[in-house]
Amino acid sequence: MPRSPETIDLLLTRRSAKALTMVEPGPNEEELRTILTAGARVPDHGKLAPWRFIIFRGEARAAFGAELARIHAAAQPGATAEQTGFEANRLTRAPVVVAVISRVTPGIKIPEWEQVLSAGAACQNMLVAATALGFGAQWLTEWYAFDPQVNALLGLKENEKVAGFIYLGSESVAKDERPRPVLADITSEWRPGS
Ligand SMILES: Cc1cc2nc3c(=O)[nH]c(=O)nc-3n(C[C@H](O)[C@H](O)[C@H](O)COP(=O)(O)O)c2cc1C
Repeated sequence: MPRSPETIDLLLTRRSAKALTMVEPGPNEEELRTILTAGARVPDHGKLAPWRFIIFRGEARAAFGAELARIHAAAQPGATAEQTGFEANRLTRAPVVVAVISRVTPGIKIPEWEQVLSAGAACQNMLVAATALGFGAQWLTEWYAFDPQVNALLGLKENEKVAGFIYLGSESVAKDERPRPVLADITSEWRPGS
């Protein structure tokens, strides 16, 4: 493969956009396909494809949001109309949202940990691909990734969990820099006897 300074530049400068600031247009059919294909091209020990994707776009976003608002209001009877309204609009913050579902096969040679990590890699590849296509992207879980009722709404099976909701759209504001760890603080070199 030829060297790709553009790719290195992207990896060293990529930042998430905030879902709340995303605007139309989102990725079109072909662009979304590219993003999902990149998501499915990640290291995957045993060729298990331990992930699947659920797309939310158009009116389905508001319909899902209405369910989130209902579940939230039932769980928090003291919630204000403003809070319930915010829940209803969660997914309409961005033109397209993709739920990445981790699905592990238990009791096989490939450890579950590795299968879960592969789902994380799928999320990250989607962020990188979306950024390369010029879109803003953000990986969120928020409360509804962990809620059993929402899981049922998504049709998740026993062995499935939400790895993240990938929000995708055009960026409307400039992104500021975020402090990154100092490499020396997180890196060491193993030596015999150390
Ligand atoms: C698994 C996972 C879940 C996340 N969930 C949230 C979330 O619910 N809310 C949030 O503000 N950021 C969340 N983040 C962080 C953002 O995706 C993102 O990393 C952060 O905004 C920093 O942006 P960066 O990609 O430019 O480093 C999550 C990150 C990961 C890896």
